[in-house]
Amino acid sequence: MKLTSFTINIAGGDTRYLNAEGDNLLRAGLRAGIGLPYECSAGGCGSCKFDVLSGEVEEMWPDAPGLSAKDRVRGRRLACQCRPLSDCEIKIRPGPEYLSATAPARFKTQYLGSRQVTVDIREFMFRAEQPAQFVPGQYALLDLPGVGQLRAYSMSNQPNEAGDWHFMVRQVPNGRVSTLMFDALQPGDSVEIDGPLGLAQLRAESPRDVVCIAGGSGLAPMLSIVNAVAMQPALNERAIWLFYGGRSPADIPTFADWLHKPDRVQVTAAVSAAALAESDGWQGERGFVHELLGRSLSGDLAAHEYYLAGPPPMIEVVVRMLMIEHRVPAQQIHYDRFF
Ligand SMILES: Cc1cc2nc3c(=O)[nH]c(=O)nc-3n(C[C@H](O)[C@H](O)[C@H](O)COP(=O)(O)OP(=O)(O)OC[C@H]3O[C@@H](n4cnc5c(N)ncnc54)[C@H](O)[C@@H]3O)c2cc1C
Ligand code: FES
Repeated sequence: MKLTSFTINIAGGDTRYLNAEGDNLLRAGLRAGIGLPYECSAGGCGSCKFDVLSGEVEEMWPDAPGLSAKDRVRGRRLACQCRPLSDCEIKIRPGPEYLSATAPARFKTQYLGSRQVTVDIREFMFRAEQPAQFVPGQYALLDLPGVGQLRAYSMSNQPNEAGDWHFMVRQVPNGRVSTLMFDALQPGDSVEIDGPLGLAQLRAESPRDVVCIAGGSGLAPMLSIVNAVAMQPALNERAIWLFYGGRSPADIPTFADWLHKPDRVQVTAAVSAAALAESDGWQGERGFVHELLGRSLSGDLAAHEYYLAGPPPMIEVVVRMLMIEHRVPAQQIHYDRFF
């Protein structure tokens, strides 16, 4: 990437950074070590809202759902969907809590191949020339040739020296990028990745037991987290629970194939569509994933560290239940909503 560099000045202090031409305001800030607020990097959550005080920016997705009609009237923008066209002064509140151990970088990878996980989820494997540095639970943006839009996918594997990045992708009907990955991507193809990103990563320093909750393709980062905890000798004392919800029995993976130490993880999977559970002779749990939690975890639910990933409605129900019914402190709940 060329460093034509516009200078971005954050109002109210002496924080400024250089924004390489073509890079968006959020990732350029994070690359420069400035903790700009964010969650999804995908225009969905609205966490990266900011005001332009001077200068010119280009909105890459003007209709992004992360902005309300009121935000638009007030001229607010999303840092993950804007790139500067000049030097700018912006109003946004950075904080160190938005920085990860590794700043995001853009690099080339080669697609190696894929393997089936469930009826509509495949794991896609890529290799870069440099080590894959991320914390389990994080995600990266994939830039497939010819698409012109990036998509966020969470890593399902562990950080590694070989440069391997694995993602579990659900095939969305008529979805632009997921369909391309399932139907057109060929081993040897070159794909650019920008990452790591995301704040719902494993807190290995937490003394609490670990509860991971996933719906659909939210499985990827939760597998990365439970496998990391199970494999680290220093975390031997932590109990690990993995709750997974799917619509039909065909949505439930064979967990033993994906867990590095199956004996360490208490897995509970539930199917929500009663008719499909019935017709497939499903013997396991039925209902929604949040209903499972209350049934399966005993004692003080506020004593655990929670990690969640999947569809926004599922995350919202579980977070509300944990915080309101069980008084779990917000700082013990870490989630990525898959917008
Ligand atoms: C943090 C995070 C992590 C995720 N992790 C996973 C994962 O591990 N596995 C998985 O299967 N999915 C994951 N997703 C969802 C994934 O990023 C895609 O939304 C999904 O694969 C559908 O993409 P598509 O192109 O196939 O579908 P489409 O319907 O073509 O695209 C839908 C998505 O594209 C984005 N979008 C739409 N229009 C624009 C535009 N004009 N400019 C920019 N973006 C646009 C929106 O985010 C929207 O949700 C994650 C999402 C987020 C936010
Ligand atoms: S981080 Fe920009 S909308 Fe979510």
